[in-house]
Amino acid sequence: MIIPPDLLEVARAARALAHAPYSGFRVGAAIRLANGAIFGGCNVENASYGATICAERGAICAAVAAQGAIEVREIVVISDGSPPWPPCGMCRQFIAEFAAPACRIFCSNEKGEMFEQSFEALFPKAFGAADLGSE
Ligand code: THU
Repeated sequence: MIIPPDLLEVARAARALAHAPYSGFRVGAAIRLANGAIFGGCNVENASYGATICAERGAICAAVAAQGAIEVREIVVISDGSPPWPPCGMCRQFIAEFAAPACRIFCSNEKGEMFEQSFEALFPKAFGAADLGSE
C-alpha cells in the first residue's frame, strides 16, 4: 500500500509549520473528505503543555471550520516516530466523530516507514452519537 501522495504533501507542508518548542516533535496530518477536499494540520503546543493540540485534531478543526458537516475518508500522519506514531487516544476519539465507515489511516515518517490500517481496526467500538441515544 502506498501513501496517497497528495495527502503526504499536505501533511509535510503542515508539519513544517508545527509549533513544537516544548517537545521538539513536529507532526503533520492531512485528511481527505468524502467530497474530495483536503485539509492539513500540525501540532500546536502550549506553555501549559495540556492545552496542546495534535496535528490530527488541527486538520479536522480546519475542515469543520471550512465546510461544517464533514466525513473523513483518509488520514495521513507524518512524524519522527519510529515506528511511526499512531494518533493518540484523544485524537482517535476526535476522528471517530467524523470518520467514514471505511476510513483508512496511514502513519509514516521520513525514514520511509509506514503502517496503514482501517480506522475501525485502530479504534474499534468507539463511543459515538449512537451511544447517546441508547438506553
Ligand atoms: N502529537 C501529535 O500531533 N499527533 C500524534 O499523533 C501524537 C502526538 C504531538 C503532540 C505533542 O505536540 C507532540 O506530538 C509530542 O507528544
